[in-house]
Amino acid sequence: MKALIKKLPQELQNIVEVVSSLAHTKNVRAYLVGGCVRDMILGARNLDLDIVVEGNGLEFGVNLGEKLKAKVVTHKRFKTSTVFAEDAIKIDITTSRQEHYPHPGSLPVVRDGLIDKDLFRRDFTINSLAVSINQDDFGKLLDVTSGKADLAKGCVRVLHDLSFVDDPTRILRAVRFEQRYGFKIEPKTLALLKQAVKKNMLINTEPQRIRDELILMLKEKNAQKMLKRLAALTKLSFLHLELKISNHTWKLMHDTSAFVRWFESNYPGRRRLDHWLIYLMVLFKPLSMNCVYAFCRRFVLTKNEEKRLIASKAVNPDLIRKINRKNLPPALIYSLLEPLSYEVIILLKAITKNKNAQKHISDYFEIYNDIRISVGGEDLRSLGLAPGPRYQDIFSKVLGAKLDGLVKTREEELELIKKLMT
Ligand code: CTP
Repeated sequence: MKALIKKLPQELQNIVEVVSSLAHTKNVRAYLVGGCVRDMILGARNLDLDIVVEGNGLEFGVNLGEKLKAKVVTHKRFKTSTVFAEDAIKIDITTSRQEHYPHPGSLPVVRDGLIDKDLFRRDFTINSLAVSINQDDFGKLLDVTSGKADLAKGCVRVLHDLSFVDDPTRILRAVRFEQRYGFKIEPKTLALLKQAVKKNMLINTEPQRIRDELILMLKEKNAQKMLKRLAALTKLSFLHLELKISNHTWKLMHDTSAFVRWFESNYPGRRRLDHWLIYLMVLFKPLSMNCVYAFCRRFVLTKNEEKRLIASKAVNPDLIRKINRKNLPPALIYSLLEPLSYEVIILLKAITKNKNAQKHISDYFEIYNDIRISVGGEDLRSLGLAPGPRYQDIFSKVLGAKLDGLVKTREEELELIKKLMT
C-alpha cells in the first residue's frame, strides 16, 4: 500500500508522515487528493500537496503549521488553510465537503461531508483520486470514479453532465490538463463542454475566476497549444467580444516565444519574463487600447498588470519606423527602448522583421542596457546646483553622451556637466 506514497519526492514523504501522525493524534481522517495523487500516479513532479481532512481543515492547518514551523494562511469562508513549508512546498488543506452552487458560475456554498462525497464533487475523474494517509490503511488508493483507468487511457472526463454548468472554469481546466499531459477530452465530455460554451456559460461566470484559470494556463509550458485548443473550442470571445484570432496571431505568438527563448538563454541573469503577459499582449494586438482597458476592468487585473498590458500599445507604426532605421546612434536606440518593459521589447522584436531593428535590440540588451554613469546627485550639489528636475535632464544627457562614446571617464562626465550648466 505504501508503494504509491514512495513515488513522492523524499521531502514530501517526510511531510506526509508528519500529517499522518498529526491526524492520528487529533483523531481525524486525512487523505491526499486531486492533483498530487494524479501526478504521483503519472510520475510527474508536483510540489503541491492537497490534503482533505474529515474534520476541521482550518484548525488542522494551523496545527500542522505549528508542527512544521511554517507559515499558515487560513480562509474561514471555505474552512481551508494553506501551509507554506520549506523548499517551496505548498500544502492546501480542505475540510471534506460537498459543494452546492447557488447559481451557475458562482462560488460554491460549502457543507461538511465525508471523503467519498468530496471526491464526487470534483472536476474530472483524473482529479478525483485520493490516497489514505491514516495509520490503519496508509497508502490505500480510493478510486470512486475510475480515475486510475482514465489516467491510463489518457482521457479527461467529467463526473456528471452538469459539471461545466456548475463551474464553467472547468472548460479551461479540461483544456489545460488535456494539453499538459497529451490526453484527450473524451467525446461525451467534449460534447458537454461545447454545449456549455454555446450557452455562453463562460460569459456569465465571475470574471475573476476565469482570469485565475486563464493565467494558470498561460503560465504552463504548453501554453500556446492550450490557447489554440481553447480558441478552437470557444473562439476566446469570452475574453472580449471584439477579439478576433487569426493565423497571424498564432504566427506572432510562435515568433514571440522564439524570442523569449532567445532572451532567456542569452541573458539568464536578467529579470524573468512574465510569459503570461506576453501571450495576452499578442492576443490583444488587434484590439484597441479601449478594448484592452475594458478587459482589464472586467477581469479585475491589478493596476500594475493593467499598466504593463497597456504598455504593449507602444509598439505602433511610428516606433517600428524609428527602430527599423539603419545606423542609429546608441543614445537614440536607448531612448526608444529604455521606456519599454522587456516583455514589450520582445513583442517589438517579433513584430518587426527588420534586420536593423534586430541588431539595435540585441545591442540594447548586450551593451546599452548595462551602461551606467559615474556621476550622481552629490556631484551636482557640489557644483552648486540645487536639487530639482534639472538633475534628471542632466543625467540623461550625460548617459546619452556616454552611450555615444563622447565621454568615457568620470572626469569627462564632470566636464560635460559643467558645460551643460553654463
Ligand atoms: N477542483 C475542481 N474544480 C475546480 C478546481 C479544482 O474540482 N474548478 C478540484 C480538483 O479535484 C483538483 C483540486 O480541486 O485536483 C485542486 O485544484 P487545483 O490546485 O486548482 O488543481 P490541481 O489538480 O492541483 O492542478 P495543478 O497541477 O494545475 O495545480
